[in-house]
Amino acid sequence: MTSPAVHTPALTSRLPNVGTTIFTVMSALAAEHKAVNLGQGFPDFDCDPALVDAVTAAMKAGHNQYPPMTGVPALRQAMAAKMQALYGLRCNPDTEITVTAGATQAILTAILAVVQPGDEVIVLEPCYDSYVPNIELAGGVPVRVPLIPGSFRPDFDRIAAAITPRTRALIINSPHNPSGMVWSAADMQRLQDLLAPTEVLLISDEVYEHMVFDGQAHQSAARFPGLAARAFIVSSFGKTYHVTGWKVGTVVAPAALTAEFRKVHQFNVFTVNTPVQHALASHMANPAPYLELAAFYQHKRDLFREGLAATRFRLLPGEGTYFQCVDISQLAVPERELPEAEFCQWLTKEIGVAAIPLSAFYGNGFDQRVVRFCFAKKDDTLREALQRLARL
Ligand SMILES: Cc1ncc(COP(=O)(O)O)c(C=O)c1O
Repeated sequence: MTSPAVHTPALTSRLPNVGTTIFTVMSALAAEHKAVNLGQGFPDFDCDPALVDAVTAAMKAGHNQYPPMTGVPALRQAMAAKMQALYGLRCNPDTEITVTAGATQAILTAILAVVQPGDEVIVLEPCYDSYVPNIELAGGVPVRVPLIPGSFRPDFDRIAAAITPRTRALIINSPHNPSGMVWSAADMQRLQDLLAPTEVLLISDEVYEHMVFDGQAHQSAARFPGLAARAFIVSSFGKTYHVTGWKVGTVVAPAALTAEFRKVHQFNVFTVNTPVQHALASHMANPAPYLELAAFYQHKRDLFREGLAATRFRLLPGEGTYFQCVDISQLAVPERELPEAEFCQWLTKEIGVAAIPLSAFYGNGFDQRVVRFCFAKKDDTLREALQRLARL
């Protein structure tokens, strides 16, 4: 018997269009069918054991209570030193760097800190799936501008046309998930010129900053004074040190922006777990792990691309990140005609390799016959996947 006094009140969803993400769906399907999971973006290998030892040491040393709201000073100092060494940006670790619970919390917090109801925020599609719901939670209006299909390069004419007096921020992401495309210095210069006469803020999602291949350099917004002066620059230790489950990142932003960011941050998570911050700070003393990351992943990219080149998958450029996109329209199987999402389900169940449809990164489900594989996997995992994909 139910009593009218005992019931769960009805809700009006804050995010009516959000369901279970494709990443969760594909990972579950991959597990169910024992498929090689090249869908969700995370390594299937472990991090440096020294990093785990450093967390244990920090715990044993008693670093188990709340750290400062802004993050452990040693980690903010290490980050400031890195920003200067790599990108020439001098930033004050006390007033311009905040440690966050990964890039996801960093981006949400930046948006909540600066977007007022009705403000427009430009996103460049395809884009990481949290951006648009984050803007909507802040009461902002997402303005979707496509990257050029095929090349995934920025279309500056369309970006310029999308800027209005209501535009509060633009979110960019280079190296880019899902395409693996990397913005050049000329792209960043052009963006700097475009934004110079505006009040538009920049949220620069740089979580794949250390995965840029073929001798190219990562063009951080930090290198461009006109961008750095208006930017929240977002990094993630999860990507850099193969510890995606630790969920620790940083935001670098000018003091005035950081002050507003921290007002939200302190009532959002307040702070981030202490021993991991200490461990990351000591680990950062040696720059080799992040300086060598590009070569580490370039080897995997090359192994994976060489294998795919022998199939009917058509390779799209892969300049950075640990993702490789492929066009499926020339495959020798009739399933190539399926919508991308259904193709990925078929690929997982019947061929035993999970991938993510590019349509998942567009608000309107734009289907361009392209799927994304993650190659942050052991070489043997990649070889196993290639063997299965060779049938197509
Ligand atoms: C483009 C992009 N931004 C942000 C994130 C989130 O990073 P974190 O795990 O540090 O929250 C990811 C993770 O996949 C990503 O691909």
